[in-house]
Amino acid sequence: MNQPPRIRVLFDEKAIAQRIEEIARVVAESQPKNLLVVAVLKGSFMFAADLIRALHRAGLEPQVEFVHLSSYRTGTVSTGQVEILRDVESDVRGRDVLLVDDILESGRTVVFAKDLLMARGARNVMTAVLLEKPGKRAVTIHADYVGFTCPDVFVVGYGMDVAHSYRQLPFVGVLDFLDKNPGLFDEAKT
Ligand code: IMP
Ligand code: MG
Repeated sequence: MNQPPRIRVLFDEKAIAQRIEEIARVVAESQPKNLLVVAVLKGSFMFAADLIRALHRAGLEPQVEFVHLSSYRTGTVSTGQVEILRDVESDVRGRDVLLVDDILESGRTVVFAKDLLMARGARNVMTAVLLEKPGKRAVTIHADYVGFTCPDVFVVGYGMDVAHSYRQLPFVGVLDFLDKNPGLFDEAKT
């Protein structure tokens, strides 16, 4: 029988929860108008769910929307294509939008979504990412809110997957076998 892979914890539940409360407080201080949170599926679902509740505790009343995007890669290299698998339903015109994603890597997913929402007439699009991998940026994007700076390793958990597994983990970690074989599961990432 296969041994379950060992997972090295990078960011634990407590650290994530504390950081999210801080981010929510800073978002609230910016006094957004008619705030719409747009979570990028699938990877951000857990971060978004916790952030939205923290925004509530910070005194905001955001509406919530989802966009499902997929960025494709060949081998370990992002091809730069981003596809909309499911669009938002709300009109974003004139609204302050908080775009929420799991991880800023090449930056293409967040830039694509931000440009899309701005082109549709959002008043302002702020971006919140749980993790940022600074070494992998292909396009210029400055995230307004960053949970943690992440080493350039493939991470799983807290919504993020490898081949559709490990999204359920309440923490962010690194799989031992991917540490040793980077690129093993390169495919479309959402
Ligand atoms: P981008 O390269 O910034 O466009 O990021 C594309 C997407 O790839 C992110 O939204 C994540 O869903 C996914 N992704 C990037 N790095 C990782 C990782 O280490 N683990 C899991 N998903 C990742
Ligand atoms: Mg994603």
